[in-house]
Amino acid sequence: MKKTGQRTKRAELLRFIRRGAEVGGGKHTSIPVTWRDFHDYSNLFQNHAGIDLHTLLSEKISQSSTPVVVTDFGCGKGNALAGLKRIFGPKIKTVGYDARYHSGMRELDEHHVKDLLSATFVKSDVIFSVGTLGYVGEIKKMLDKTAKSLNRNGVALLHFNRIGTKPGNAYDSLLKGAETFFERVSKGEIKINGVSAEVHRFADVPKSDFIVILKKRQ
Ligand SMILES: C[S@@+](CC[C@H](N)C(=O)[O-])C[C@H]1O[C@@H](n2cnc3c(N)ncnc32)[C@H](O)[C@@H]1O
Repeated sequence: MKKTGQRTKRAELLRFIRRGAEVGGGKHTSIPVTWRDFHDYSNLFQNHAGIDLHTLLSEKISQSSTPVVVTDFGCGKGNALAGLKRIFGPKIKTVGYDARYHSGMRELDEHHVKDLLSATFVKSDVIFSVGTLGYVGEIKKMLDKTAKSLNRNGVALLHFNRIGTKPGNAYDSLLKGAETFFERVSKGEIKINGVSAEVHRFADVPKSDFIVILKKRQ
């Protein structure tokens, strides 16, 4: 019974997404009004987790003889990856995942129109996600899947947004239990698939979004 209910709810969510119901920024003081390009992504992770995406990629490129695989979960039009490609060219391979096809995705080196929960992820060196994981839910499953898909020394920068997850809308229960869950991750009581995990909040906003940084050592 429960499983069928969950499947129905997921199917409803995916229908909602495919109708084009994207939720933009702007209601939150601490994230960019739009987060459409990599500068915005970099700012988000820099301001709230002290990691600059551009610097991280430069480091990875300097340590690698093959293209660094950079993956965006919930890439939308793929603008963030396209911006990175303009800077780093063939030194990176861009991979985007989204539940809905957006024009622009085909410009990426690889794109997958798939629900993140059921998709099989390519192995990546850097993964990022902005404004998406709050609509996906199943936090532990997403973290474990992400960790598993990281290459050695890989890093994942994951934003769990709360915009759009307010009570009464289609997403209200997806981050249920997140406060306790992430507190336990921070204390090391919950382990994520062989990686270290840091949890960050927006310092100036109570009950804000979560930013999770996963690092794989081997
Ligand atoms: C608010 S938009 C953010 C897009 C982009 N990351 C950005 O910052 O501009 C959320 C994106 O997540 C995608 N999405 C939501 N749930 C998803 C799921 N379960 N699997 C894959 N993509 C999903 C939506 O289709 C949408 O493109």
